[in-house]
Amino acid sequence: MNYKKGTLVCVGPGMVLGAHITERCKNHIKQADIVFTSCHPVIEKWLATLNSCTYSLQHLYADNKDRRNTYQQMQAAMLAEVRNNKKVVGAFYGHPGVFAQVPHHSIKQATEEGFEAWMEPGISADACLYADMGIDPGAYGCQQFEASQFMFYQRKLDPSAYVILWQLGHAGDLSLTPRLTGAPERQVLVDMLLEYYAPSHQVAIYESPFLPTQQPRIIWQRLDELPKADISLISTLVIPPGRRLIPNDEIVIRLKSIYPASHGKNTNKALGE
Ligand SMILES: C[S@@+](CC[C@H](N)C(=O)[O-])C[C@H]1O[C@@H](n2cnc3c(N)ncnc32)[C@H](O)[C@@H]1O
Repeated sequence: MNYKKGTLVCVGPGMVLGAHITERCKNHIKQADIVFTSCHPVIEKWLATLNSCTYSLQHLYADNKDRRNTYQQMQAAMLAEVRNNKKVVGAFYGHPGVFAQVPHHSIKQATEEGFEAWMEPGISADACLYADMGIDPGAYGCQQFEASQFMFYQRKLDPSAYVILWQLGHAGDLSLTPRLTGAPERQVLVDMLLEYYAPSHQVAIYESPFLPTQQPRIIWQRLDELPKADISLISTLVIPPGRRLIPNDEIVIRLKSIYPASHGKNTNKALGE
């Protein structure tokens, strides 16, 4: 018999207050013994109306505190209650598994300790972005990076695809604190991007609303103006393709030899011709 009754479910209430949450996530929250939240304050207040045993984890962030310590403390808080054999829910805004370490690490740890733990999806910032900006990530492909990770490591961009850079507000922050970085760090990022795009290439800063009454903020501007832009901790950078797709003739010829009868009708379609 499994005496470990504690469970952990990480759920995502989506981006917009009350409008994006799935029935499954809502039910998990309502039925939990204890709910931990890391969301916009207004969303946290609303979640607390679904379950009176709801605690925000947001106070664990602090100026000059390494975000990795904050994440460990969030994980420790949830795991302690799981070990107390509680039905624990962690509600992390958007999708709990998208650019969010705590839910992934907590589920892994709980599972390793023999507890049942899993994730329920939510509507993430990029899901809102596709809708609000009319972007289909399948049209040209879509690469996504955490902005600082893109800067700290040797990564390659495909400028014929969309590129989405998350955590633009922390771009280039070596301290890993919650601080907003500024124009000098963003200039370094722009210099890296200028290897792939023209200075006049139009890029967008996207911010999805948190309240149903608000509109998305979508600011288009030249790439070389990005250092001076008004950036917040919820800004996401969208870079549309700056180069045409280049056909891979060698592969298409090889594929045509597999199905000679089709004589490339379908490959032309696949290439968008
Ligand atoms: C730690 S990640 C959390 C992402 C979240 N789990 C999700 O599903 O969207 C924080 C980053 O998500 C993006 N983000 C958060 N809120 C946003 C919003 N309202 N609009 C656009 N992007 C947002 C920003 O890039 C921000 O730096």
